[in-house]
Amino acid sequence: ETPILQDLHGRHHGYLRISLIERCNLRCSYCMPEEGVQLSPKSHLMTYEEIYQIAKIFVKHGVTKIRLTGGEPLVRKDIPVILEKLATLPVELSITSNAVIIDRFIDVLKVNGVNKINLSLDSLNREKFKHITRRDQFDIVYKNMLLLVEEGFKVKVNVVLMKGFNENEIIDFINLTKNLPIVVRFIEFMPFDGNKWDMGKMVSYAEVMTYVNASFTEENIQRLQDAPNDTSKNYKISGYKGSFAVISSVTNPFCDSCNRLRLTANGQLKNCLFSSAESDLLTTLRLGNAIEPIIQKAVQAKFKVRGGMDTLKKLQEPKLHNNNRSMITIGG
Ligand code: GTP
Ligand code: 5AD
Ligand code: SF4
Repeated sequence: ETPILQDLHGRHHGYLRISLIERCNLRCSYCMPEEGVQLSPKSHLMTYEEIYQIAKIFVKHGVTKIRLTGGEPLVRKDIPVILEKLATLPVELSITSNAVIIDRFIDVLKVNGVNKINLSLDSLNREKFKHITRRDQFDIVYKNMLLLVEEGFKVKVNVVLMKGFNENEIIDFINLTKNLPIVVRFIEFMPFDGNKWDMGKMVSYAEVMTYVNASFTEENIQRLQDAPNDTSKNYKISGYKGSFAVISSVTNPFCDSCNRLRLTANGQLKNCLFSSAESDLLTTLRLGNAIEPIIQKAVQAKFKVRGGMDTLKKLQEPKLHNNNRSMITIGG
Protein backbone atom coordinates (compact mmCIF):
# COMPACT_ATOMS: atom_id res chain seq x y z
CA GLU A 1 0.00 0.00 0.00
CA THR A 2 1.39 3.46 -0.91
CA PRO A 3 1.83 5.84 2.00
CA ILE A 4 -0.98 8.39 1.81
CA LEU A 5 1.37 11.35 1.54
CA GLN A 6 3.30 10.06 -1.46
CA ASP A 7 2.26 11.30 -4.87
CA LEU A 8 2.41 9.67 -8.29
CA HIS A 9 5.71 11.42 -9.06
CA GLY A 10 7.41 9.75 -6.11
CA ARG A 11 7.41 12.84 -3.91
CA HIS A 12 6.90 12.38 -0.20
CA HIS A 13 5.10 15.17 1.66
CA GLY A 14 6.52 15.73 5.10
CA TYR A 15 5.88 19.46 5.37
CA LEU A 16 2.45 20.93 6.11
CA ARG A 17 1.79 24.66 5.92
CA ILE A 18 -1.28 25.68 7.89
CA SER A 19 -2.87 29.05 7.25
CA LEU A 20 -4.52 30.18 10.49
CA ILE A 21 -6.38 33.26 9.39
CA GLU A 22 -7.39 35.12 6.23
CA ARG A 23 -6.89 38.57 7.72
CA CYS A 24 -3.71 40.59 7.97
CA ASN A 25 -2.56 43.81 9.60
CA LEU A 26 -0.74 44.85 6.40
CA ARG A 27 -2.07 45.20 2.84
CA CYS A 28 0.81 44.16 0.59
CA SER A 29 -0.14 44.73 -3.01
CA TYR A 30 1.59 41.56 -4.30
CA CYS A 31 -0.40 39.50 -1.86
CA MET A 32 -3.95 40.84 -2.02
CA PRO A 33 -6.17 42.97 -4.23
CA GLU A 34 -6.61 46.56 -3.09
CA GLU A 35 -10.31 46.07 -2.41
CA GLY A 36 -9.53 43.15 -0.09
CA VAL A 37 -10.80 39.60 -0.36
CA GLN A 38 -14.08 37.95 0.50
CA LEU A 39 -13.52 36.55 4.00
CA SER A 40 -14.92 33.18 5.03
CA PRO A 41 -17.64 33.37 7.68
CA LYS A 42 -16.17 32.58 11.09
CA SER A 43 -18.06 29.29 11.31
CA HIS A 44 -16.21 28.08 8.22
CA LEU A 45 -12.80 28.59 9.80
CA MET A 46 -11.02 25.81 11.65
CA THR A 47 -11.10 26.09 15.43
CA TYR A 48 -7.89 25.37 17.30
CA GLU A 49 -9.21 21.91 18.20
CA GLU A 50 -9.89 21.17 14.54
CA ILE A 51 -6.45 22.41 13.52
CA TYR A 52 -4.94 20.08 16.09
CA GLN A 53 -7.07 17.10 15.04
CA ILE A 54 -6.20 17.53 11.39
CA ALA A 55 -2.51 18.18 12.09
CA LYS A 56 -2.36 15.03 14.20
CA ILE A 57 -3.57 12.94 11.27
CA PHE A 58 -0.92 14.42 8.98
CA VAL A 59 1.75 13.72 11.58
CA LYS A 60 0.53 10.14 11.87
CA HIS A 61 1.19 9.84 8.15
CA GLY A 62 4.67 11.25 8.18
CA VAL A 63 4.57 15.04 8.47
CA THR A 64 7.56 16.23 10.48
CA LYS A 65 7.42 19.95 9.85
CA ILE A 66 4.55 22.37 10.29
CA ARG A 67 4.71 26.03 9.34
CA LEU A 68 1.99 28.43 10.45
CA THR A 69 1.03 31.15 8.02
CA GLY A 70 -1.90 33.46 7.39
CA GLY A 71 -2.88 36.22 6.50
CA GLU A 72 -0.85 37.19 9.52
CA PRO A 73 -0.90 34.20 11.89
CA LEU A 74 -0.23 36.30 14.99
CA VAL A 75 -3.43 38.29 14.48
CA ARG A 76 -5.39 35.19 15.40
CA LYS A 77 -6.57 35.60 19.00
CA ASP A 78 -6.02 31.99 20.04
CA ILE A 79 -2.49 31.74 18.61
CA PRO A 80 -1.00 30.88 22.03
CA VAL A 81 -3.32 27.88 22.38
CA ILE A 82 -2.69 26.77 18.81
CA LEU A 83 1.06 26.84 19.41
CA GLU A 84 0.66 25.01 22.69
CA LYS A 85 -1.43 22.23 21.10
CA LEU A 86 0.82 21.80 18.06
CA ALA A 87 3.94 21.84 20.24
CA THR A 88 2.79 18.52 21.72
CA LEU A 89 3.26 16.88 18.30
CA PRO A 90 6.65 15.49 17.21
CA VAL A 91 7.23 18.15 14.55
CA GLU A 92 9.43 21.12 13.86
CA LEU A 93 7.09 24.04 14.35
CA SER A 94 7.77 27.34 12.65
CA ILE A 95 6.00 30.48 11.58
CA THR A 96 5.97 32.99 8.74
CA SER A 97 5.00 36.46 9.96
CA ASN A 98 5.13 40.08 8.91
CA ALA A 99 6.63 40.73 12.36
CA VAL A 100 4.49 43.80 13.09
CA ILE A 101 3.37 42.48 16.49
CA ILE A 102 5.80 39.63 17.03
CA ASP A 103 7.52 41.38 19.96
CA ARG A 104 4.48 40.48 22.07
CA PHE A 105 4.94 36.78 21.37
CA ILE A 106 8.64 36.18 22.08
CA ASP A 107 8.01 34.09 25.19
CA VAL A 108 5.06 32.16 23.76
CA LEU A 109 7.17 31.25 20.74
CA LYS A 110 10.14 30.18 22.83
CA VAL A 111 8.12 28.15 25.30
CA ASN A 112 6.57 26.21 22.44
CA GLY A 113 9.84 25.41 20.74
CA VAL A 114 9.52 27.77 17.80
CA ASN A 115 13.04 28.92 17.09
CA LYS A 116 12.95 29.71 13.40
CA ILE A 117 11.03 32.70 12.10
CA ASN A 118 10.55 33.77 8.51
CA LEU A 119 9.52 37.38 8.22
CA SER A 120 8.60 39.64 5.31
CA LEU A 121 10.43 42.88 4.73
CA ASP A 122 10.38 44.16 1.18
CA SER A 123 12.17 47.45 1.55
CA LEU A 124 14.66 49.14 3.85
CA ASN A 125 13.16 52.47 2.93
CA ARG A 126 10.33 53.66 5.13
CA GLU A 127 8.36 55.35 2.36
CA LYS A 128 8.68 52.37 0.06
CA PHE A 129 7.67 50.02 2.83
CA LYS A 130 4.57 52.13 3.39
CA HIS A 131 3.83 52.15 -0.31
CA ILE A 132 4.02 48.39 -0.74
CA THR A 133 2.27 47.42 2.51
CA ARG A 134 -0.14 50.36 2.58
CA ARG A 135 0.71 50.74 6.29
CA ASP A 136 3.37 52.85 8.00
CA GLN A 137 5.00 50.08 10.04
CA PHE A 138 8.57 49.99 8.80
CA ASP A 139 10.20 51.07 12.08
CA ILE A 140 8.53 48.43 14.19
CA VAL A 141 9.20 45.63 11.70
CA TYR A 142 12.86 46.55 11.45
CA LYS A 143 13.14 46.78 15.23
CA ASN A 144 11.42 43.42 15.62
CA MET A 145 13.78 41.81 13.14
CA LEU A 146 16.70 42.94 15.32
CA LEU A 147 14.88 41.82 18.44
CA LEU A 148 14.34 38.32 17.05
CA VAL A 149 18.02 37.99 16.22
CA GLU A 150 18.97 39.24 19.65
CA GLU A 151 16.59 36.76 21.25
CA GLY A 152 18.36 33.94 19.43
CA PHE A 153 15.81 33.05 16.76
CA LYS A 154 17.01 31.87 13.37
CA VAL A 155 15.64 34.56 11.11
CA LYS A 156 14.98 34.46 7.38
CA VAL A 157 13.92 37.72 5.78
CA ASN A 158 11.67 37.36 2.72
CA VAL A 159 12.01 40.11 0.12
CA VAL A 160 9.60 39.94 -2.82
CA LEU A 161 11.41 41.78 -5.61
CA MET A 162 9.51 44.01 -8.00
CA LYS A 163 10.92 45.62 -11.10
CA GLY A 164 11.78 49.28 -10.68
CA PHE A 165 10.56 49.25 -7.09
CA ASN A 166 13.03 47.53 -4.78
CA GLU A 167 15.54 45.90 -7.11
CA ASN A 168 17.90 48.79 -6.32
CA GLU A 169 17.94 47.57 -2.72
CA ILE A 170 19.34 44.11 -3.42
CA ILE A 171 22.84 45.10 -2.38
CA ASP A 172 21.60 47.04 0.69
CA PHE A 173 19.82 43.88 1.80
CA ILE A 174 22.93 41.77 1.25
CA ASN A 175 24.93 44.32 3.22
CA LEU A 176 22.57 43.73 6.14
CA THR A 177 24.02 40.22 6.32
CA LYS A 178 27.48 41.59 7.00
CA ASN A 179 26.83 41.98 10.70
CA LEU A 180 23.52 40.20 11.15
CA PRO A 181 23.32 36.38 11.18
CA ILE A 182 20.17 36.33 9.05
CA VAL A 183 19.27 34.80 5.69
CA VAL A 184 17.91 37.37 3.26
CA ARG A 185 15.84 35.62 0.59
CA PHE A 186 14.94 37.42 -2.61
CA ILE A 187 11.71 36.03 -4.04
CA GLU A 188 10.59 36.15 -7.64
CA PHE A 189 7.20 37.85 -7.77
CA MET A 190 4.58 35.16 -8.46
CA PRO A 191 1.10 35.38 -9.99
CA PHE A 192 -1.98 34.97 -7.81
CA ASP A 193 -5.57 36.00 -8.09
CA GLY A 194 -5.91 39.79 -8.00
CA ASN A 195 -2.24 40.75 -7.65
CA LYS A 196 -1.88 42.26 -11.14
CA TRP A 197 1.16 40.12 -11.89
CA ASP A 198 2.95 40.21 -15.13
CA MET A 199 6.29 38.82 -16.08
CA GLY A 200 7.66 42.33 -16.64
CA LYS A 201 7.19 43.20 -12.96
CA MET A 202 9.29 40.28 -11.83
CA VAL A 203 13.00 40.41 -11.04
CA SER A 204 14.50 37.03 -11.93
CA TYR A 205 17.11 34.91 -10.21
CA ALA A 206 19.49 35.67 -13.10
CA GLU A 207 18.97 39.41 -12.66
CA VAL A 208 19.63 39.19 -8.93
CA MET A 209 22.92 37.44 -9.65
CA THR A 210 23.85 40.12 -12.17
CA TYR A 211 23.54 42.73 -9.42
CA VAL A 212 25.51 40.55 -7.04
CA ASN A 213 28.28 39.88 -9.55
CA ALA A 214 28.60 43.58 -10.23
CA SER A 215 29.10 44.43 -6.55
CA PHE A 216 31.23 41.61 -5.19
CA THR A 217 34.23 39.79 -6.56
CA GLU A 218 33.81 36.26 -7.77
CA GLU A 219 36.02 34.85 -5.03
CA ASN A 220 33.90 36.52 -2.36
CA ILE A 221 30.61 35.06 -3.58
CA GLN A 222 30.18 31.58 -2.15
CA ARG A 223 27.47 29.21 -3.35
CA LEU A 224 26.25 27.34 -0.27
CA GLN A 225 24.79 23.87 -0.07
CA ASP A 226 20.98 24.08 -0.08
CA ALA A 227 18.99 22.20 2.55
CA PRO A 228 16.99 19.23 1.24
CA ASN A 229 13.62 20.41 -0.13
CA ASP A 230 14.81 24.00 0.14
CA THR A 231 12.87 26.61 -1.80
CA SER A 232 16.01 28.68 -2.22
CA LYS A 233 19.40 28.79 -3.87
CA ASN A 234 21.77 29.92 -1.11
CA TYR A 235 24.83 32.15 -1.21
CA LYS A 236 27.12 33.98 1.14
CA ILE A 237 29.60 36.79 0.92
CA SER A 238 32.86 35.63 2.46
CA GLY A 239 33.28 36.87 5.99
CA TYR A 240 29.68 38.03 6.37
CA LYS A 241 27.73 36.72 9.36
CA GLY A 242 24.58 36.01 7.41
CA SER A 243 23.78 34.71 3.96
CA PHE A 244 21.39 35.38 1.11
CA ALA A 245 19.33 33.31 -1.27
CA VAL A 246 16.96 33.46 -4.19
CA ILE A 247 13.56 31.77 -4.34
CA SER A 248 13.03 31.26 -8.04
CA SER A 249 9.55 29.73 -8.29
CA VAL A 250 8.98 31.36 -11.66
CA THR A 251 12.22 30.92 -13.63
CA ASN A 252 13.59 27.86 -11.80
CA PRO A 253 10.83 25.96 -10.04
CA PHE A 254 11.85 23.45 -7.39
CA CYS A 255 8.84 21.21 -7.89
CA ASP A 256 10.97 18.08 -8.31
CA SER A 257 11.81 18.17 -4.63
CA CYS A 258 8.49 19.56 -3.44
CA ASN A 259 7.45 18.13 -0.08
CA ARG A 260 4.70 20.60 0.79
CA LEU A 261 0.99 20.45 1.40
CA ARG A 262 -1.16 23.36 2.46
CA LEU A 263 -4.18 23.65 4.68
CA THR A 264 -6.18 26.85 4.34
CA ALA A 265 -7.80 28.59 7.28
CA ASN A 266 -11.17 27.29 6.13
CA GLY A 267 -9.95 23.74 6.15
CA GLN A 268 -9.25 23.09 2.48
CA LEU A 269 -6.25 21.01 1.49
CA LYS A 270 -4.23 22.41 -1.41
CA ASN A 271 -1.74 20.02 -2.95
CA CYS A 272 0.25 22.83 -4.59
CA LEU A 273 0.72 26.56 -4.13
CA PHE A 274 -0.26 27.16 -7.74
CA SER A 275 -3.14 24.73 -8.04
CA SER A 276 -6.73 25.90 -7.69
CA ALA A 277 -7.83 22.38 -6.72
CA GLU A 278 -9.00 22.10 -3.10
CA SER A 279 -10.20 19.24 -0.95
CA ASP A 280 -12.61 19.97 1.86
CA LEU A 281 -11.11 18.37 4.94
CA LEU A 282 -13.00 20.51 7.43
CA THR A 283 -16.51 19.58 6.31
CA THR A 284 -15.54 15.93 6.21
CA LEU A 285 -14.11 16.14 9.70
CA ARG A 286 -17.23 17.91 11.00
CA LEU A 287 -19.44 15.21 9.52
CA GLY A 288 -17.43 12.71 11.52
CA ASN A 289 -15.96 11.01 8.46
CA ALA A 290 -12.36 9.93 7.90
CA ILE A 291 -10.21 12.52 6.17
CA GLU A 292 -7.42 10.13 5.17
CA PRO A 293 -9.02 8.98 1.90
CA ILE A 294 -9.54 12.58 0.87
CA ILE A 295 -5.97 13.49 1.71
CA GLN A 296 -4.67 10.57 -0.29
CA LYS A 297 -6.79 11.44 -3.30
CA ALA A 298 -5.62 15.06 -3.17
CA VAL A 299 -1.96 14.07 -2.91
CA GLN A 300 -2.28 11.69 -5.84
CA ALA A 301 -3.85 14.39 -7.98
CA LYS A 302 -0.84 16.67 -7.52
CA PHE A 303 0.64 17.98 -10.75
CA LYS A 304 4.33 17.51 -11.43
CA VAL A 305 5.06 21.22 -11.87
CA ARG A 306 3.31 24.39 -10.60
CA GLY A 307 -0.22 23.07 -10.49
CA GLY A 308 -0.08 22.16 -14.16
CA MET A 309 1.38 25.49 -15.33
CA ASP A 310 4.57 23.72 -16.29
CA THR A 311 5.77 26.26 -18.85
CA LEU A 312 6.30 29.99 -18.48
CA LYS A 313 3.78 30.43 -21.27
CA LYS A 314 1.06 28.71 -19.25
CA LEU A 315 2.01 30.60 -16.10
CA GLN A 316 1.46 33.83 -17.99
CA GLU A 317 -2.11 33.00 -18.97
CA PRO A 318 -4.38 35.01 -16.66
CA LYS A 319 -7.19 32.49 -16.92
CA LEU A 320 -4.86 29.85 -15.47
CA HIS A 321 -3.26 31.82 -12.63
CA ASN A 322 -6.33 33.89 -11.78
CA ASN A 323 -8.56 31.06 -10.71
CA ASN A 324 -6.36 30.33 -7.74
CA ARG A 325 -6.91 32.12 -4.45
CA SER A 326 -5.24 35.38 -3.52
CA MET A 327 -1.96 34.77 -1.71
CA ILE A 328 -3.37 36.27 1.48
CA THR A 329 -5.68 33.26 1.89
CA ILE A 330 -3.03 30.70 0.91
CA GLY A 331 -0.22 31.84 3.18
CA GLY A 332 2.71 31.60 0.83
P1 GTP B 1 11.41 27.20 5.06
O1 GTP B 1 10.49 26.31 5.80
O2 GTP B 1 12.28 28.02 5.95
O3 GTP B 1 12.13 26.52 3.94
O4 GTP B 1 10.49 28.32 4.44
P2 GTP B 1 9.71 28.49 3.11
O5 GTP B 1 10.61 29.11 2.12
O6 GTP B 1 9.06 27.22 2.75
O7 GTP B 1 8.52 29.42 3.57
P3 GTP B 1 8.10 30.94 3.58
O8 GTP B 1 6.77 30.93 4.22
O9 GTP B 1 9.12 31.81 4.21
O10 GTP B 1 7.95 31.32 2.07
C1 GTP B 1 8.91 32.01 1.33
C2 GTP B 1 8.54 32.08 -0.12
O11 GTP B 1 8.65 30.80 -0.69
C3 GTP B 1 7.12 32.55 -0.37
O12 GTP B 1 7.10 33.43 -1.45
C4 GTP B 1 6.41 31.30 -0.69
O13 GTP B 1 5.31 31.53 -1.49
C5 GTP B 1 7.48 30.52 -1.40
N1 GTP B 1 7.18 29.12 -1.28
C6 GTP B 1 7.05 28.43 -0.11
N2 GTP B 1 6.72 27.15 -0.36
C7 GTP B 1 6.61 27.06 -1.71
C8 GTP B 1 6.26 26.00 -2.58
O14 GTP B 1 5.95 24.89 -2.18
N3 GTP B 1 6.25 26.26 -3.91
C9 GTP B 1 6.57 27.44 -4.40
N4 GTP B 1 6.54 27.57 -5.71
N5 GTP B 1 6.89 28.49 -3.62
C10 GTP B 1 6.91 28.29 -2.29
N1 5AD C 1 5.03 36.35 -4.98
C1 5AD C 1 6.08 35.91 -4.24
N2 5AD C 1 6.06 35.84 -2.90
C2 5AD C 1 4.96 36.23 -2.28
N3 5AD C 1 4.66 36.30 -0.97
C3 5AD C 1 3.40 36.76 -0.85
N4 5AD C 1 2.88 37.01 -2.06
C4 5AD C 1 3.84 36.70 -2.97
C5 5AD C 1 3.91 36.75 -4.38
N5 5AD C 1 2.88 37.17 -5.13
C6 5AD C 1 5.59 35.91 0.10
C7 5AD C 1 5.77 36.95 1.19
C8 5AD C 1 5.75 36.15 2.44
C9 5AD C 1 5.69 34.74 2.00
C10 5AD C 1 4.92 33.84 2.87
O1 5AD C 1 5.11 34.77 0.73
O2 5AD C 1 7.02 37.54 1.08
O3 5AD C 1 6.91 36.35 3.20
FE1 SF4 D 1 5.40 22.23 -4.92
FE2 SF4 D 1 3.55 23.34 -6.44
FE3 SF4 D 1 5.45 24.84 -5.28
FE4 SF4 D 1 6.01 23.22 -7.33
S1 SF4 D 1 4.70 25.00 -7.36
S2 SF4 D 1 7.20 23.47 -5.45
S3 SF4 D 1 4.66 21.48 -6.89
S4 SF4 D 1 3.85 23.69 -4.25
